[in-house]
Amino acid sequence: MRTVRAPATSANLGSGFDTFGVALGRPADIVRVERANRTTIEVTGAGAQYIPEDPERNTVGAVAEALDAPAHIRIDKGVRPASGLGSSAASAAGAAVALNDLYDRGLSREELVPIAAEGEAVVAGTPHADNVAPALLGGFTVATAERVHSVATSVPLVVCLPEEPISTRDARQVVPDDVSIEEMVETVGRAATLTVGMCRSEPELVGSGMDDSVVTPRRAQLITGYDDAVAAAEEAGAYGVTVSGSGPGVVAVCGADDRRSVASAMVGAFEEHGADARAYRTDVGRGAELL
Ligand code: HSE
Repeated sequence: MRTVRAPATSANLGSGFDTFGVALGRPADIVRVERANRTTIEVTGAGAQYIPEDPERNTVGAVAEALDAPAHIRIDKGVRPASGLGSSAASAAGAAVALNDLYDRGLSREELVPIAAEGEAVVAGTPHADNVAPALLGGFTVATAERVHSVATSVPLVVCLPEEPISTRDARQVVPDDVSIEEMVETVGRAATLTVGMCRSEPELVGSGMDDSVVTPRRAQLITGYDDAVAAAEEAGAYGVTVSGSGPGVVAVCGADDRRSVASAMVGAFEEHGADARAYRTDVGRGAELL
């Protein structure tokens, strides 16, 4: 038997659509695997009732198949599904690390990224790696079609989750098909600024690169109260605020001492729109860990 703690993640960070991601210190999934003749899945915890236990339809079923590692897989969800915090990626990354060890497959964390990303395709329709990369490697990650890079960093974060779920599959429908050269230049500039900020652990620089005018404005329309939550977070001292992954979670970067006020400002703004919300005060965290 193997047990793995696999973290929530925040993908995109505005300017890095389908490319950037960070591991979060919390929340996390706990994934436990035992050898079996065929794969079976049992899910408990946050939002478990929304997650299929059929291996053909669950992200970890695809991982077990790709690793040729049938197992009884128990997932205790700490990361709420359809929240924008990489819920399916946490389970996929946790299962990949646990099964790789249980069956002695000897794959590196980098080699597990495309395997866990296959699990993402089951949920989102496309195998994007921007959540599974940080869930496996920790820190700030840049996932391209060819490679994954990760950097250890320390940046105070607040993630706020309004209760209304949004499926990644639906949120991908609003992504535009093309961009103008002006939008491209602006986005490249912001993405580069954010990357320098992550490499230097400078929250202010990260915040100034953490937005875009291509994908985020479309996604923001799906989240009731988004604009007010952003304004409230900025008023409370956030350096940057954007949609976490495909939403409805919202991620803010700020100074370490401002996390509490940023968190309560965002929760309050959502509540004024009649949306229950909860916030996690955290930092960039580690990747999946065998317990
Ligand atoms: N990059 C993906 C998207 C992340 O925004 O659709 C999903 O969490």
